[in-house]
Amino acid sequence: MKIPKELIKYLQKSTHIAILTGAGISAESGLNTFREAQTGFWSQYRPEDLATPQAFARDPKLVWDWYAMRRNKVAEASSNSGHFALVDMESRTPNFTLITQNVDGYHVQAGSKNVLELHGNIQKVRCFDGCGIVDDWEDNSEVPHCPKCNAYLRPDVVWFGESLPLDALNAAHKATLECQAFFSVGTSGLVQPAASLAHTARQKGAIVIEINLDPTPLTPHVDFALHGKSGEILPALVKETWG
Ligand code: APR
Repeated sequence: MKIPKELIKYLQKSTHIAILTGAGISAESGLNTFREAQTGFWSQYRPEDLATPQAFARDPKLVWDWYAMRRNKVAEASSNSGHFALVDMESRTPNFTLITQNVDGYHVQAGSKNVLELHGNIQKVRCFDGCGIVDDWEDNSEVPHCPKCNAYLRPDVVWFGESLPLDALNAAHKATLECQAFFSVGTSGLVQPAASLAHTARQKGAIVIEINLDPTPLTPHVDFALHGKSGEILPALVKETWG
């Protein structure tokens, strides 16, 4: 993949970069997407019927077991060259913000520091009653209880019908408004509000770069569309820009 010279020069002068990532960046880790994971016993359920507060209230053990299965898949795989390239990019950029829709935690695991996990993190749990307790996921076959208020502990991810964590969302908007370059990496750009961030960045004068296997609804609106695997394009881009 040839990285356009114009883009390299622009990035070399950029002090503020914001990146939005989606499921595509973890594809090369071997991780299935939300829907692809529905095999075997789980094929009788739709994710939309499991990833909701109502489903958890109705049958906590079923939802807990589904997330345990998904978490095991995350634990079996690990960060790939795309995640690591973003760690390098952060070290070369004075103001760098990595906004992710992924719950796998691979950006933090790879070593990225300023990461905003808009949809939460599957490796953590929090109190279902909202008392504020957040903890690491322990391998329990039964649904564990909150050490503070004894309610159930739930996966620390955003479920259908729930709002995104406000602090992360505000920080994502701030980074989007301030950046000179905005990357949309491995996301179909269909889910709001993450989908609108690229447009916001562009309106504020940033250049927008898309890295995706295929064209998306965002493609006609970007300055540079780099089609291919993020695990190949990102390392090449970082090497050519910063050496
Ligand atoms: N490199 C780059 N892009 C890739 C790669 C790859 N190796 N493999 C797949 N892609 C692209 C696909 O072309 C697609 O556009 O990644 C995108 C993945 O899109 P989605 O599966 O829709 O994932 P995402 O955009 O993260 O979805 C957003 O929707 O289902 C909810 O909460 C879930 O966080 C998720 C959100």
